[in-house]
Amino acid sequence: TMAEERALAMVTCTAPVNIAVIKYWGKRDNDLILPINSSLSVTLHQDQLKTTTTAAASRDFTEDRLWLNGEEADVGHPRLQACLREVRRLARKRRGGSAEDAAPLSLSYKIHIATENNFPTAAGLASSAAGYACLVSALARLYGVEGELSEVARRGSGSACRSMLGGFVQWQRGERPDGRDSLAHQVAPETHWPELRVLVLVVRDCGGEGHGCIHHPPAGWDLGGGCWEPPSPHRAEVVVPERLALMMRHIRERDFEGFGQLTMQDSNQFHATCLDTFPPIFYLNDLSRQIIALAHRFNAHHGRTKVAYTFDAGPNAVIFTLADTVAEFMEVVRRSFPPATNGDQFVRGLPVGSASLPEELVAAVVTEPVPGAVRYILHTKPGPGPQLLDDPSQHLLGADGLPRRCP
Ligand code: PMV
Repeated sequence: TMAEERALAMVTCTAPVNIAVIKYWGKRDNDLILPINSSLSVTLHQDQLKTTTTAAASRDFTEDRLWLNGEEADVGHPRLQACLREVRRLARKRRGGSAEDAAPLSLSYKIHIATENNFPTAAGLASSAAGYACLVSALARLYGVEGELSEVARRGSGSACRSMLGGFVQWQRGERPDGRDSLAHQVAPETHWPELRVLVLVVRDCGGEGHGCIHHPPAGWDLGGGCWEPPSPHRAEVVVPERLALMMRHIRERDFEGFGQLTMQDSNQFHATCLDTFPPIFYLNDLSRQIIALAHRFNAHHGRTKVAYTFDAGPNAVIFTLADTVAEFMEVVRRSFPPATNGDQFVRGLPVGSASLPEELVAAVVTEPVPGAVRYILHTKPGPGPQLLDDPSQHLLGADGLPRRCP
């Protein structure tokens, strides 16, 4: 006989942020979120940056509900609904195929979702990728769906499909109009390049403390991979395919100079594309440009590419470097952008050794200091894909299905 349906089920997952080194920008299908070009990213370690999501389904819930960082939010968001619909569709398909589930969770139960970031949302760090990857991971576990899920995460936010995997990840643009081949896959695991490090330079808030630093264009401009096709097809047709092949080789060979140089070039081309959109989009600000100039002076002084910057839809810089360069570059950043207050909180994440800078390096690289320009620096490295948390004490929802009160 068929086992009785479960009354309450709850699952908690975590998912990572990813940073593209070959950027996704421009969609060929706005609803399915199909990109104009393939892209490639590095998944960051969840010890430093992660989203945690608890999904629960119960016979006793009367409506679908969502909480973001403790605040109730609109569950009707079309992208969120698309993810929910797709996971349920896969669950239905799977159940149709086999009846091995002892206690299937009814697909008609209402769900409660709570999600939290371990990094300040106001920092302006892209959180939609980790957010949707986490949502899809948790829902899939809740409904017992396995296998290819990057396609579902993509429906939430394009870059989210790359957060479904750890290490170095490619999102293949695909050819099909239905998007079934627009998927993410791992190019190399996070253990592939143990020396690679990532520094996130969170720059000064535009609107003052507590205001958040959401550097989005005015309301109505549909962001997220851009709603308009870029003005020239040259990038998608010629530049990206060549760069992807080259980038894969640099990663395979752990060639930091090649990797770093191409990362900077592709970031610059992405921002040039934004500028060449009409009306134009500005993501970089004066501080971003000062960090770019600093990185180039640092590399020029050393006579090779030792640090590489990249920027997404905001002014915060992400720096790739190798472990043996972190302490020195960190000291250069500290001298250039001395902390305004809280000097002890300036560097966060993985520990950083101390470095004393040679005089000629200071003279060549550090210009007039700009105090307070960089709020803090997060030191991290490549990491794994989404994780399931087994410990029930880590659920964000209590047994009543409501957010647990923060201690
Ligand atoms: O995931 P979306 O739709 O928010 O697009 C993000 C695109 C960039 O972050 C700017 C580049 C990328 O490939 O991640």
